[in-house]
Amino acid sequence: MSELLSGRDHMGVLNAGSFGVSSVTNSLSDVHSSFPEPTTGEGSRSPTPGLTAAFDPGRFHDGAVDIVSRLTTYLGDRSVRGLDLLDPAVLLKAARGLMTPERQRIADFDADRVNQIVDLYTGTGIPVYSPGYMGRQFSGVVPLASLIDLVGSVVNQPSSFYEAGQLPSVAERLMAEELNRFIGWNRDRFAMVTTSGGSLANLTALLAARDRAFPQIWTRGTGGMSGLPAIAVSEEAHYSVTRAAGVLGIGERQIVRLPVDRAGRIRPDLAGPVLDEAHRRGLRLFCLVASAGTTSMGAFDPLEELAAVARRHGLWLHVDGAHGASLLLSDRHRDRLRGIEQADSLTWDAHKMLFMPAPCTLLFYRDGAAARGAFRQRASYVFDEEPDIYSAYDSADKNFECTKRPMIMPLWTVWSVYGPALFAQKIDRLCAVTRQAYRMIDAEPDFAVVHEPESNILCFRYRPDGLEPATVHRLQLEIRNRIRDGGRFFISKVDIDGVAALRVVVMNHLIDADHLAMLIAEIRDIGQRVLRASAAARHDQRNGSYS
Ligand SMILES: Cc1ncc(COP(=O)(O)O)c(C=O)c1O
Repeated sequence: MSELLSGRDHMGVLNAGSFGVSSVTNSLSDVHSSFPEPTTGEGSRSPTPGLTAAFDPGRFHDGAVDIVSRLTTYLGDRSVRGLDLLDPAVLLKAARGLMTPERQRIADFDADRVNQIVDLYTGTGIPVYSPGYMGRQFSGVVPLASLIDLVGSVVNQPSSFYEAGQLPSVAERLMAEELNRFIGWNRDRFAMVTTSGGSLANLTALLAARDRAFPQIWTRGTGGMSGLPAIAVSEEAHYSVTRAAGVLGIGERQIVRLPVDRAGRIRPDLAGPVLDEAHRRGLRLFCLVASAGTTSMGAFDPLEELAAVARRHGLWLHVDGAHGASLLLSDRHRDRLRGIEQADSLTWDAHKMLFMPAPCTLLFYRDGAAARGAFRQRASYVFDEEPDIYSAYDSADKNFECTKRPMIMPLWTVWSVYGPALFAQKIDRLCAVTRQAYRMIDAEPDFAVVHEPESNILCFRYRPDGLEPATVHRLQLEIRNRIRDGGRFFISKVDIDGVAALRVVVMNHLIDADHLAMLIAEIRDIGQRVLRASAAARHDQRNGSYS
């Protein structure tokens, strides 16, 4: 390291010379002496003791010991818990009570206050490590990932430029190579950028796709174009895709919806005719967005067939694999993404099925040159006209963000320490438990599964015989809310074919058959109580109206 540092010093001197400083002045100290020294005011004084103390490493250490011990207890809590949803006004008051009233001077460090903030933080929100949590697509993270996230916060190396984040930039390259082995693109041509979330990745991919079809839009906009740019998406596409279209100026009428089957997968046999019809309407389609793991049901579109459709229509194929791309790591489940190698771009959220702290998304492009089409800009303060060995690792020309968290570090570290099998095993377990949930629920006469799970998302309804569809809908919503209020499980809900369904997302490898049986019993219990209460209310109403 010392050699490296002395090398840098040496280069520093050389650089000063190469900018011609020495030709104007004799030394750098001459440069300094040409500016008046501040004699009075803030700059001439030492930092105040309070300022120095706030940055004191010893204080960091002591604070860390307290916080880590609290987090260790939090991580060790295996109790079955859902969400303890507080009245925001109550939480606001509690949080306000933790803010120092000091305004004039820097307040003294108060370990108690910090510990209370940590307790409030861990005690509120979804308990993502509990087997009672089955509701969303993020999860408890691999604990090592959190520790590296802490390192990232201390060293603060934003990752869009090599010179600002050297190791993160290299780690991005390594992680891209590792994951691309599962995608299968030409290793000399593909590219990857990290983005803060799948929504931003989908937007970025659409920009690149649009640039390939209409390179003039970046400079001239859409004015004067014959026909409007349009995209084709699944009826089940995540809202971030159509939102991205809106951001790009693609109106609702330019979004062509591709019909899906009962499992929520695009029907390739119907996609062709729908696209032909869109062409006839004068729309200028440039991208087909498929999903690898839809949000509602975790369905995987048939990528191989859709790639053929996209090719026939000259469309960029973007695969939104925010949820399901991670199945590529599993020998058992990889086949769901058959055909991925024919896509043009892929969104892959590591904060979903790779169990990383959010956000951490990887956006892959089959053709790295196309990736640069998303943003065609110059900015002399950051982009170099003459690329060098360092800027080859910059990603700012390909991603929306300038300052960006070095989000790859937790993923790369966990991958480096444990290897890919950790992810594969966890994914396999989650999918197996979801299948078990499917079998258990399917065997219950008063429950109805909506689909066979393709991954770790399962939708079903509590629907004893004889209920009207409107009642079924309201019943699921009521059950979902009461389960949340009960505080033992946290599940979600989604409308399928216009009728609400209960939705579990199995993200915790500790969930087992006992937890599933408890959940089923709780749903039944609540469902029956709701139905009894509404029958009693109807009865009272009838009696009341007779009197
Ligand atoms: C299929 C799919 N795409 C995109 C997104 C958006 O990703 P993010 O929440 O990381 O912005 C989600 C989020 O749930 C998703 O399920």
